[in-house]
Amino acid sequence: MKVKELLSKPSKTTLRDKALLLAHLLNKDHKELYLMESLEVPIEVERAFFEGLEALEKGYPLQYLLGEWEFYGKSFYVEEGVLIPRPETEVLVEEVLKRLPKDKRLRGFEIGVGTGCISISLLLHCENLTMMANDVNTKALRLAKRNAQRHGVSHRLLLFGGNLFEALKPTTFDFIVSNPPYIPKERWESLPEGVKREGYNSLIGGLKGWEVYEKVAESLDIYLKREGFFAFEIGHDQGGVLKELFESKGYKVLVLKDYSNQDRVIVGWRS
Ligand SMILES: C[S@@+](CC[C@H](N)C(=O)[O-])C[C@H]1O[C@@H](n2cnc3c(N)ncnc32)[C@H](O)[C@@H]1O
Repeated sequence: MKVKELLSKPSKTTLRDKALLLAHLLNKDHKELYLMESLEVPIEVERAFFEGLEALEKGYPLQYLLGEWEFYGKSFYVEEGVLIPRPETEVLVEEVLKRLPKDKRLRGFEIGVGTGCISISLLLHCENLTMMANDVNTKALRLAKRNAQRHGVSHRLLLFGGNLFEALKPTTFDFIVSNPPYIPKERWESLPEGVKREGYNSLIGGLKGWEVYEKVAESLDIYLKREGFFAFEIGHDQGGVLKELFESKGYKVLVLKDYSNQDRVIVGWRS
């Protein structure tokens, strides 16, 4: 079959997603594909395309079929069991970059690195920065390493396995950043099957959802420099409760919105 015929097959999948899938299987850019509508597609690619379409229709994430996804203008390898980078997390990256001075050496720490999209984006935009980043998921750590190598920043990113601040030697950072799991446990069952593929520990923060922030708040003081700041992604309905939590620990905080005007990031520093 020709490219045009495959793309026009009736399906619940959007034309854009079909084009992304077919382009990936043909090893082409999806924008090029529209210029090759009469190209005859090899039979094995055709078969893989239909298998892919079937998976998409059952809710399997396109990003995992493609094996990579765009975040903050760069492509990151993604794998099942590790969170797919989200556009709203770009707001977190923006808010950190805005606060980084360009004229001194900086050290940051990320809790829960996942694909590495946050730390790597920060490193790509701030040459005077080195990052340490951890995760409890070894698959995520391997993926973050591959992504750091892909983008040429692995010499400035130290990855290690660990739960929150455990395994961290006594040290202080200019900032601490995280997009921790923040969904309440009771919502797990009702999440779409495709989202569940990203993994329980990537998504679920505990009974209330904000338990990870509570634990982090206990130790922030030890690991932040006096003039340091923290920046965390939060659930759209957690701005109020988390503002109260961090203020009760002596921080001044700002709750910032994402592109859909929802609370999405909390930034704080010592008052
Ligand atoms: C919401 S995902 C964020 C991943 C990535 N930073 C991003 O924004 O795409 C949360 C990550 O935190 C990790 N994680 C969960 N609990 C953790 C803990 N106690 N200590 C360190 N990492 C943790 C998960 O394995 C997951 O990779």
